[in-house]
Amino acid sequence: MTRDEAHALDAADPLRGFRERFVLPEGVIYLDGNSLGVLPKAAATRQREVVEQEWGRSLIRSWNEHGWIEAPARIGAKIAPLIGARPGEVIVADSVSVNIFKLLTAAAAPSPERRVILSEAGNFHTDLHVASGAAELMGMELRVVERGELEAAIGPDTNLLLLTHVHYKAGFRFDMAALTARAGEAGARVVWDLSHSAGAVPLQLNRDGAELAVGCGYKYLNGGPGAPAFLYVAKHLQEQLIPALRGWMGHSAPFAFHDHYEPAPGVSRFLVGTPPMLSLLALESGIETFDGVDMDAVWTKSIALFDLFARLAEERCPALECISPREPDRRGSHISFRHPHAFELCQALIADGVIGDFRSPDVIRFGLTPLYLGFEDVLDAVERMAAILDTGSWREPRFAVRGKVT
Ligand SMILES: Cc1ncc(COP(=O)(O)O)c(C=O)c1O
Repeated sequence: MTRDEAHALDAADPLRGFRERFVLPEGVIYLDGNSLGVLPKAAATRQREVVEQEWGRSLIRSWNEHGWIEAPARIGAKIAPLIGARPGEVIVADSVSVNIFKLLTAAAAPSPERRVILSEAGNFHTDLHVASGAAELMGMELRVVERGELEAAIGPDTNLLLLTHVHYKAGFRFDMAALTARAGEAGARVVWDLSHSAGAVPLQLNRDGAELAVGCGYKYLNGGPGAPAFLYVAKHLQEQLIPALRGWMGHSAPFAFHDHYEPAPGVSRFLVGTPPMLSLLALESGIETFDGVDMDAVWTKSIALFDLFARLAEERCPALECISPREPDRRGSHISFRHPHAFELCQALIADGVIGDFRSPDVIRFGLTPLYLGFEDVLDAVERMAAILDTGSWREPRFAVRGKVT
């Protein structure tokens, strides 16, 4: 791949124009949109308006006049088409961790025969921590097994499965339809964590029979640091589930101030407290970066970016071992490599303007975000990485210093 060829691919890219929707700092190749998406230009303008006009002038009237109170459902409805759900099936609230707790505790129907929540060893740790707490609270057991043993582990004692659709480290993707069906045959339900899937890989929750899911706002959805998460409950299940974490925003009449709890109709019962309006509206700007975007085109480009990255890294960085699956339908939209000094390599790359991230103990991971990443960016990133590896410049002591967030 020559620079001219990469340039030609960018020129022919049907998504190229969407790059204009983002603030892309000069001199930076950003390969971390799977940890924190870049700033949408519209978010900066909108935040100014929200702060100065809505908060500054309309004050508390904004809950009605500027649609603040409807924002969790309104923004949920904008996420729905990105994940193959219907508008009334998604709301935005809290964090992924908290939403996992809400769904596990509402959907579990513990009984002496079905006392197991099943998950994957090496799943993102917050999922396991939340599940262990929820299991303990409900007198259940969290059972964690290797990925290859999951299907066989689903049995008559399984109550719920908690699975991350695309794995945060190497990017392995579960077959959502097959696993949901397999769990269903055994009388169990699956809570899907879509943190590394939403806005990245093709998702058809309704078609694939998914009943329960959560997902992240600050990664591929470009919602900003600490953006609220989303929560999905399939229509047919909504009235059956009674949240254990009950707050006034999920009450059928929050402003009636009743002592007695009565869940709001539909998925809104999973709201808890007052939504963080600034963050919520920043997330709305992030979701709007997908307006007019064909998600199939996003995935097609993700595949091409991945293939180019994998091929170039194989040719130019032989010290790296690619640990992500090559087959598109078995992975997400990031590419990960193992290197004994992945931390130092990652720091050296950041110093050179290529931002990826390190995952302990020896993985370097690069997010491929088709809306704002180009083929020439990939070529540049791999060339800089090859230079760092060839010269051994990652050995400089300054790259071994661990900061607060690694
Ligand atoms: C798979 C997965 N689940 C959950 C989280 C954490 O989500 P939150 O901080 O919103 O609880 C992350 C964060 O990276 C993640 O990758």
